Amino acid sequence: MQNIINGKLVAKTILDGIAVKVAEKSNLGYRVPCLAVVLVGEDSASQVYVKNKKLACAKVGIKSLEYKLPQHTNEQDLLNIVRQLNENNTVDGILVQLPLPKHLNSKLVIDTISPDKDVDGFHRYNIGSLALNSPTICPCTPHGVIELLDSVGFQYSGKIAVVIGASNIVGRPMALELLNRGCTVTICNSKTPNLKNFTTVADVVVVAVGRTRFINRDYFNANAIVIDVGINRLEDGTICGDVDFESTQAVVKYITPVPGGVGPMTIAMLIKNTFDCYNKREF
Ligand code: GUN
Repeated sequence: MQNIINGKLVAKTILDGIAVKVAEKSNLGYRVPCLAVVLVGEDSASQVYVKNKKLACAKVGIKSLEYKLPQHTNEQDLLNIVRQLNENNTVDGILVQLPLPKHLNSKLVIDTISPDKDVDGFHRYNIGSLALNSPTICPCTPHGVIELLDSVGFQYSGKIAVVIGASNIVGRPMALELLNRGCTVTICNSKTPNLKNFTTVADVVVVAVGRTRFINRDYFNANAIVIDVGINRLEDGTICGDVDFESTQAVVKYITPVPGGVGPMTIAMLIKNTFDCYNKREF
């Protein structure tokens, strides 16, 4: 079990540290940080994620505001709420939960969020800054993965990294984070021919394709660090990742479990981004 990276524990350490700092600010008489969360529609997974994000805020003493909007919300109404939150000086972070209903233009909504309140790090200014190796606010899941790699002392320079999945939320910013630290990075996807040719030579493999047990032990060398970003729900309700954990755990250097690996880090990084945005504001 010594090669399992405990994301729950790493996340808890980060959150405990932020809770202390929030309390210090509050004791000095400053207002507490505030995160506004916007949820449109009834997607059940999104409802769970939003609930967990609000719980995490409460645990560290950050105030959260929830805007629950109906499925048929029109785009202008949503954009107006975002604009009001941009202007509200008591709001430090704005998060619009994705995916949005299909009739809404996610890119437009994200780009309407003020870049300095974009705690998801999805705005083109923040992604562009990451691409130029001048990071501002970094997307939560990829940055959480970096914290996990740091926690096991991974040295990036000169290492081979493979990212499977190229989404705007995980794969692309993940590749940039690794590139910025000196890794040789290959971005693959679920259709990459001879995927094993890439993964078996990698020092670190980040898997984010969203398919239950997409790859197994045959894809890794004995020195590999395997980061499983997948959160897949089986028919019986159990949650499992994109990697066949049982077969892989015994044959690699490190692996993250699902649940308890990357998931808690995404939330910890959201809280960290919110606190960082708060600290950058003038009181
Ligand atoms: N949907 C799935 N992951 C995320 C995330 O990290 N942020 C937002 N806003 N929506 C998501």
